[in-house]
Parts: sequence; structure tokens; C-alpha cells
Amino acid sequence: MILDGRKLSEKRLEMLRETIEESGLYPRLATVIAGEDPASKLYVRMKQRACERVGIGSVGIELPSDASTGRVLEAVGRLNGDPDIDGILVQLPLPDQIDAARVIEAVAPEKDVDGFHPCNLGRLLSGNPVFAPCTPRGIMTILEEYGIETAGAHAVVMGRSIDVGRPMAILLLNADATVTICHSRTRNPADETLKADILISAVGKAKFVGPEMVKPGATVIDVGINYDEHGRLCGDVDFAAVQERAGAITPVPGGVGPMTIATLMENTFTAAKLRACDPVL
Ligand SMILES: NC(=O)c1ccc[n+]([C@@H]2O[C@H](COP(=O)([O-])OP(=O)(O)OC[C@H]3O[C@@H](n4cnc5c(N)ncnc54)[C@H](OP(=O)(O)O)[C@@H]3O)[C@@H](O)[C@H]2O)c1
Repeated sequence: MILDGRKLSEKRLEMLRETIEESGLYPRLATVIAGEDPASKLYVRMKQRACERVGIGSVGIELPSDASTGRVLEAVGRLNGDPDIDGILVQLPLPDQIDAARVIEAVAPEKDVDGFHPCNLGRLLSGNPVFAPCTPRGIMTILEEYGIETAGAHAVVMGRSIDVGRPMAILLLNADATVTICHSRTRNPADETLKADILISAVGKAKFVGPEMVKPGATVIDVGINYDEHGRLCGDVDFAAVQERAGAITPVPGGVGPMTIATLMENTFTAAKLRACDPVL
């Protein structure tokens, strides 16, 4: 079974558009980007297009590539205090001279629609998330919508980054999976991945996961965004070979990526609703 993230994101965005229209709210998302990285600029444009589609207003703050940490903190501080802004997204990665951890911590937790603030990660760890990071939350939506059981399943997460691997593992744990996390120091990752009913790869290496690492019938979720030897976009998983062995699999493109954006829209609407009900979270 192909887990079609593009189709599912279309459905979720349409549902969200209707819900926002009925709510009478006009949520607004601010994006902050520093520098000229083409991939980052593309992601921000895609997020702004999704905003337009569902009825979320978007404000783009563009800072030069030599912006200091102070300059970014100042922009974030202004957005924190702006009553017309519900969500703030700082596009990562930031240029090297900027202290990304300080910037992430500067975003008001109630506007942190990316879910990277320690306060939101702590809530996730405690089992009561408000905003979970969009990529892993979008993957949970894929599993839920396709009826893939997590309770009691053995899930293996490859990667332990703050934006994907760690929150992914916690979301799966919160959904009653038994979770193993692999990283670059894991000895013989295939020993772990072969036990996985649900295998999530967020490593960032083309064709890293081959069929010899996959248990027959497993659900394989490919988070990677890489380029193959011909310069074509691909994930971490050798899709053609693994497809034969997996029970369900996400393609790249058209799997996890579109769901990340749809989840950002959902988080922004959640922020608007929470602020409308209770401005102090
Ligand atoms: N589709 C989307 O919406 C979306 C969103 C975010 C990211 N991505 C993509 O997902 C991939 C991962 O992103 P990220 O931000 O999590 O990357 P990252 O911060 O570079 O993390 C990569 C992780 O992979 C681990 N790793 C490296 N080599 C490994 C190995 N041989 N075996 C097991 N684990 C290994 C690293 O371990 P250590 O911690 O030990 O170094 C690290 O935890 C990238 O391709 C990125 O572009 C896609």
C-alpha cells in the first residue's frame, strides 16, 4: 500500500479551510527567514501558498544572510508582541553566525507552531502536547488515517534530531508503541530495523534503507529529502526495492513532505483558537 501524503494533505487542507471559514477566525502566521538558501526560500513559499489556500494570513520577514542573532531576536520579539500574529515559524537552518537555540527559545511558546520550543517539547514528553513538531505530527496523521495500529507495535525511529527523530519517538510512545531510536552510533542498525512493525527513517542519506533492513509487511515511513546520483529528489529508502517487501510505504516526493505543511496549517489554527479562548496559555 502506498501511503499517499499528497492526497491526504489535500483532504486535510480542504477540511481545515472549511473549519477556519466556519470559525470566523482569521489566523495569521509569520515566517522569518534569514539568508538566501534556495531550499529554505522554496519551503517558505510553499507554506505561504498553503496559508492562502486555507484562509490563514501570512506575513514574511526576510533578513539578510549576515543578520546577527540580535537582529533575529528583535524580529521574533516584535512578532511575539504583535496581537495580530498567532503563529511564528523561523525557517531552519539559520546561517551559521546565528545562535539557533536562542532564537528557538525566544519564540513565545503559545505562538511556537513548529513545536521546537523546550516548553512545547516538554509538554510533548509529558504526554500532553499543545504543538508537536509538524513532520512527526504529520506522520502520526498518516498512520491514523491509514488505520496503521501503533498500540503494541514495535516502532524503530532512525535519527534523533530535535525536529524529527526525538519528537517522532515520543509521539509513537504516547500512542502506545514500543519504541527504539537508532542514530549514528548505533551498532548494526539492521538488527533493530528488522524488528520494526513501523520503521521511520529520518537520516538524510539516499538509499540508506534497503530491503535487507525491512521486516516483511512492515510500514515504512521515509522522511529523508536527498538527491540521487542523477540529481533526482529521493528519500532515505530505496523505494523500488523496499516497496516489494513493505506492507505500506510513503513515497518521496508525495509522502511526508506535504503532510508537514498541512500540519503546520493545523497548528496555526490551533494557536489562533487557543489565543481566541485564552490569550495566556
Ligand atoms: N519531509 C519533511 O517534511 C522533512 C522535514 C524535516 C527533515 N526532513 C529530512 O529528513 C532527513 C533528516 O532530517 P533531520 O533534520 O532529522 O536531520 P539531522 O539533524 O541531520 O539528523 C539526522 C539523524 O540521522 C542520524 N544518523 C546519521 N547516520 C546514521 C546512521 N548511519 N544510522 C542511524 N542514524 C544515523 C544522526 O545521528 P546522530 O545524532 O548520532 O548524528 C541524526 O540523529 C533529512 O533528509 C531532512 O532533509 C524532511
